[in-house]
Amino acid sequence: MKRVAICPGSFDPITNGHIDIVKRSLRIFDEVIVAVAVNLKKTPLFDIDKRVQLIKESLKGLENVKVESFKGLLVDYVRQKRGVAIVRGLRAVSDFEYEMQMALMNRRLDHEVETVFMMPSEEYSFLSSTMIKEIASFGGSVKGLVPEPVEEALREVFKLKD
Ligand code: PNS
Repeated sequence: MKRVAICPGSFDPITNGHIDIVKRSLRIFDEVIVAVAVNLKKTPLFDIDKRVQLIKESLKGLENVKVESFKGLLVDYVRQKRGVAIVRGLRAVSDFEYEMQMALMNRRLDHEVETVFMMPSEEYSFLSSTMIKEIASFGGSVKGLVPEPVEEALREVFKLKD
């Protein structure tokens, strides 16, 4: 049977760190679904359709990857997709508390869902979508930190340096 992993997140926007985690996941799982959460509490820079579109463009050429959005509980979505694991990136110790809380809560909600943590390449260990938005909002360069389509989209929203 195909082993499907779910890579969930807000992806507002997707960064090269996220892509690194997706690629690492593909070495372990048969298929990876990048699942973009419709988070009603957060006001995103990019709406859900734009985030999905940017991820699709950024992952072009990669096989065995799907990009979808989901509403509601992650464990329900994972069950619906017959996923065997949730994959999350762990950048630093500071991520651990939030990630452990989420993993244990998801396990409580569905004891069959496992969470797998992966370390991104160290060059992305300081990277976050929040930081990207802040740098871009002040006109700083995000080259090399986000995929081309995201850089382009940020350029449209903010005035970016090359
Ligand atoms: O990129 P993020 O914002 O850290 O991703 C968080 C996300 C989307 C994975 C998390 O908020 C989530 O799973 N949301 C869906 C609703 C849900 O299941 N909440 C309970 C998680 S314990």
